Amino acid sequence: MVFYSGESRIMNFMEKEKPIGVFDSGVGGLTVVKRISSVMPHESIVYFGDTARVPYGSKSNETVIEYTMQAARFLMQKNIKALVVACNTASAVALDVLKKTFTVPIIGMIEPGAKMAIKTTKNHKIGIAGTRATVGNKAYSKQLLALNPLVEVYEQACPLFVPLAEEGWHKHPSALIIAQEYLHDLQMKDIDTLVLGCTHYPILIDVIRKVMGSHVQLIDSGIAASEVVRAELERIGLVSNSNAMGRMDFFVSDIPSTFKNIAQLFLEREVPHVTKIDTEYLSSLPR
Ligand code: DGL
Repeated sequence: MVFYSGESRIMNFMEKEKPIGVFDSGVGGLTVVKRISSVMPHESIVYFGDTARVPYGSKSNETVIEYTMQAARFLMQKNIKALVVACNTASAVALDVLKKTFTVPIIGMIEPGAKMAIKTTKNHKIGIAGTRATVGNKAYSKQLLALNPLVEVYEQACPLFVPLAEEGWHKHPSALIIAQEYLHDLQMKDIDTLVLGCTHYPILIDVIRKVMGSHVQLIDSGIAASEVVRAELERIGLVSNSNAMGRMDFFVSDIPSTFKNIAQLFLEREVPHVTKIDTEYLSSLPR
């Protein structure tokens, strides 16, 4: 138990009511926002989606690191108490740099997703569906093998899943055809667990489940990560004391209306404010 007195009690109260910053290249991080707000409905969230520069998954590590640092600097200005990198690609490539630069707790997607997959698999054969960058960097393979050297890991890049999700085409017939094509090799590997290693992919979960079959457990790294966020806030004593629903503020780097429509549909709640932030402004933020 931590005891506070006078001024420090007020300071601690204010710290607890700060928002959690959540960042993704686009709409994918909404799958994580949904999980965080169901686990911690009283927490406020400030979200940044870099919709002008999505996809990150086909960009170089240097570019992903630069964009991620810009997004983090922007969210730090919003006085956040923790940063959730709700993007597997940015987590795979930029998490170490972020952790070395900023002092707030920073939670990525890879470690929580990998731990959940290890807990879930029975036959120790795990598939990973992710962006080219996440697969190319072998982010999940490295993490899974560090946790259990006996697992067999099969990774598959599925780059067209991101534009399908950004367009809201998760029920379009093309989504099934594309999923069948991408997931064909994984179907042949006898995996019993498939990590949705990109936060956009849970938007396509119905189609992915249809292709893989009900015998394959699908791992949503956002579910695993939201539990880590809660545990981390409890550990540092910064869980909100509020009884009201947390506030959500959204910022994007391109047309707000497209994002707003998808956000409302996906979060099943009114999204009143989506504000556009110019990429020139992001790149001008002091380092
Ligand atoms: N949603 C992101 C991820 O989890 C990135 C998708 C992209 O921008 O390519 O990897």
